[in-house]
Amino acid sequence: MIRVAINGYGTIGKRVADAAALQDDMKVAGVVKTRPSFEARIAVKKGFRLFTNTKDNIPAFNAVGIKISGTLDDLLKESDIVVDCTPGKVGAENKEKIYMPRKIKAIFQGGEKAKTVEASFNALCNYASCLGKNYIRVVSCNTTGLCRTLGTIDRAFGIKKARVTLVRRGADPADADTGPINAIVPDPAEVPSHHGPDVKTILPNIDIITSAMVVPTTLMHVHSVGITLSRPATREEVISAFQNASRIILVSAADGIDSTAKVMEYARELGRPRSDLYEIAIWKESINVIGDELFWTQAVHQESDVVPENIDAIRAVTGIEKDAHKSIAKTNKNLGMIK
Ligand SMILES: NC(=O)c1ccc[n+]([C@@H]2O[C@H](COP(=O)([O-])OP(=O)(O)OC[C@H]3O[C@@H](n4cnc5c(N)ncnc54)[C@H](OP(=O)(O)O)[C@@H]3O)[C@@H](O)[C@H]2O)c1
Repeated sequence: MIRVAINGYGTIGKRVADAAALQDDMKVAGVVKTRPSFEARIAVKKGFRLFTNTKDNIPAFNAVGIKISGTLDDLLKESDIVVDCTPGKVGAENKEKIYMPRKIKAIFQGGEKAKTVEASFNALCNYASCLGKNYIRVVSCNTTGLCRTLGTIDRAFGIKKARVTLVRRGADPADADTGPINAIVPDPAEVPSHHGPDVKTILPNIDIITSAMVVPTTLMHVHSVGITLSRPATREEVISAFQNASRIILVSAADGIDSTAKVMEYARELGRPRSDLYEIAIWKESINVIGDELFWTQAVHQESDVVPENIDAIRAVTGIEKDAHKSIAKTNKNLGMIK
């Protein structure tokens, strides 16, 4: 059993903790919070051992009667690996100041720069190249979504070039401080955006140019994808490639799933924790081949698509499973995914 520490128990951290607890080859050694919020109380209720990042924060937890098992330092002594789910850039500091001196392996998230780590990770695309590494990062929710689908098409038909527009959610559902609430914001204003280079940290040979905007919604990003194919493909062949791929589902407007709101309603019906949708949803009607060009539109549940990736990343860097497909299948089964 690999002992996993989760440092940072927010949107991503609490999901990764729950997902790791569902696996039979790893256990959650503890989770780390800086403040005694309601989430700290729930973590303890769920049976997770709760730690703080520094001992200075312990009195605040004691004051409200939340049991603390020690500091991050104490937790790392009892762990084989740490999944760092702190806000962007905190992870890079943690790597230098905490994880490297203690010689503990760490997995970071998409808010950290690629240069912080030895390799960026996406289970379907490059599991094998991350085996045994000490520091890797699971790429962002958007990059994860694009790597799953572009990787599938590249393996099946080859991609000459990809041009993608990303429509990003303005804030996570619990975030009351960011927006926009009444605007569509080109973000970044510059084209190309940074998303293309981030995809290339996983799929270096794809010629990809991206642009992005932020819209007033809290659930899901949408990507409008245009590809020039290297080899000819029919629409049916593309549909079949997506149908056979792991962690991708096809949804249909004709079936009533005609918006991100409906995709999330579908996810609620699946009855998973927090109504999470780990898979990338592609609208079947959007898939079209015109000459050598392929188009589709996909939706990404930003809070959860990276969760199974973090579980596979734990297996890759610790080496407890060397076969990507076996790890993916195990994670999928334990998280209640179909494929
Ligand atoms: N949200 C998304 O859509 C999303 C998707 C994919 C990837 N990511 C990436 O995942 C990472 C985490 O993002 P998130 O959305 O989960 O952020 P988040 O919801 O803000 O959670 C981060 C948590 O870390 C805790 N924290 C802050 N400073 C800390 C420190 N020094 N040590 C330990 N814990 C600390 C905070 O909890 P307390 O202060 O309450 O303890 C906070 O709840 C980022 O790199 C982000 O870019 C986010």
